[in-house]
Amino acid sequence: MKRVQVAIIGAGPSGLLLGHILDRAGIETIILENRSADYVLARVRAGLLEQGTTDLLRETGLGQRLDRDGLVHHGLSLAFDGELHRIDLTASSGKTVTIYGQTEVTHDLMDARAASGAPTIYEAQNVTPHNFDGASPRVTYVKDGVTHEIACDFIAGCDGFHGVSRQSVPQAALTTYERVYPFGWLGILAEVPPADHELVYANSPRGFALCTMRSNTRSRYYVQCPIGDKVEDWSDQRFWDEVRRRVDPQTAEKITTGPSFEKSIAPLRSFVAEPLRFGRLFLVGDAAHIVPPTGAKGLNLAVSDVRYLSEGIIGHYAEKSDDGLDRYSDRALNRIWKAVRFSWWMTTMLHRFPDATPFDQKIQEADLAYLVASQAAMTSLSENYVGLPH
Ligand code: FAD
Ligand code: PHB
Repeated sequence: MKRVQVAIIGAGPSGLLLGHILDRAGIETIILENRSADYVLARVRAGLLEQGTTDLLRETGLGQRLDRDGLVHHGLSLAFDGELHRIDLTASSGKTVTIYGQTEVTHDLMDARAASGAPTIYEAQNVTPHNFDGASPRVTYVKDGVTHEIACDFIAGCDGFHGVSRQSVPQAALTTYERVYPFGWLGILAEVPPADHELVYANSPRGFALCTMRSNTRSRYYVQCPIGDKVEDWSDQRFWDEVRRRVDPQTAEKITTGPSFEKSIAPLRSFVAEPLRFGRLFLVGDAAHIVPPTGAKGLNLAVSDVRYLSEGIIGHYAEKSDDGLDRYSDRALNRIWKAVRFSWWMTTMLHRFPDATPFDQKIQEADLAYLVASQAAMTSLSENYVGLPH
């Protein structure tokens, strides 16, 4: 049986970043991922990084490509009622956000891990955590038909919403909270310049739309769509027509259209499982919580979880103190719930809900009108959007 200090399940951003930070601290890890490296790299997901996230990436030696290719934004715009309203995030919060795709973060982390020589087992089947409520946890997996067993001190469940880690915890030990929204986001990527140099979030009678980007030549657009829609229902032409109708005329004018090279539909959900620790198993990132993408918080929350857990694990080995591990769950949940609230609020304010009453509609309009007329409200949005302190 092989032995490592920390067995990490999942090679998404949470697992790779945790592995990277622990490796730098001289802690031995193995990462077990059930997909191939190419599959993990090809998943198009988040794009917007909070300042706390970019700070951590730089602190851990991952700033080079980020500083070269990341697009630093000082504001965003809201489009509603035919008008565009800019919110100056930096004036209100003193901080910025950066456009740098999750794919790029993953790429940097995979390169760092390859350079360090620390092992990642891709296409590991039947990954299963064992005995994490005792002193000697183990993880088993099957690779090329052979069963392997890893003994470890700790297991980090970084395996996303559908992963095995949360499912391995006895039901009675978990409390879950959930809200499922009655619509999805249809997203596309296209090799065209963005409509604006910052993001435009639109609320329109036809539903929500978001104009975002991956670079100065590559755009990402999203529209709210019925949950039952299929990608095949949406030709590029239909998509572009719909985005243009949902944003203000000024932005519509500036949209450059072109063929999409990625198109997918994501459901929207808020979900939290508590606590994040079960003996020697810790849940991290999407394995423990999901937020709707409206506030751009999913990836950023995964990063703050990793910061807290890595501090706990390093404290255990370097200072022989379990204080950080004992505090991990409470510390992470405190920040998670604030991001869950913010993402829920942004989602509620910006989407058209199929079951909204005329009263709900009026409240939404008042929420938007108040937001763009009140410095206090814009400061509150900015403080949350750029990311609450880690
Ligand atoms: P994941 O990225 O899900 O990584 C988990 C890893 O574990 C995966 O590689 C998976 O293959 C692996 N795994 C799963 N099960 C097992 C198993 N049994 N054994 C071994 N490995 C396993 N956030 C935003 O901020 N903005 C967005 O626009 C946005 N869009 C999104 C679109 C989609 C379709 C999805 C699913 C998420 C989106 N998110 C977005 C959320 C963001 O991408 C996630 O919060 C982020 O990926 C979380 O990272 P993670 O490492 O915790 O989980
Ligand atoms: C993205 O660029 O994909 C993105 C940005 C901001 C969001 C959601 C997604 O709120």
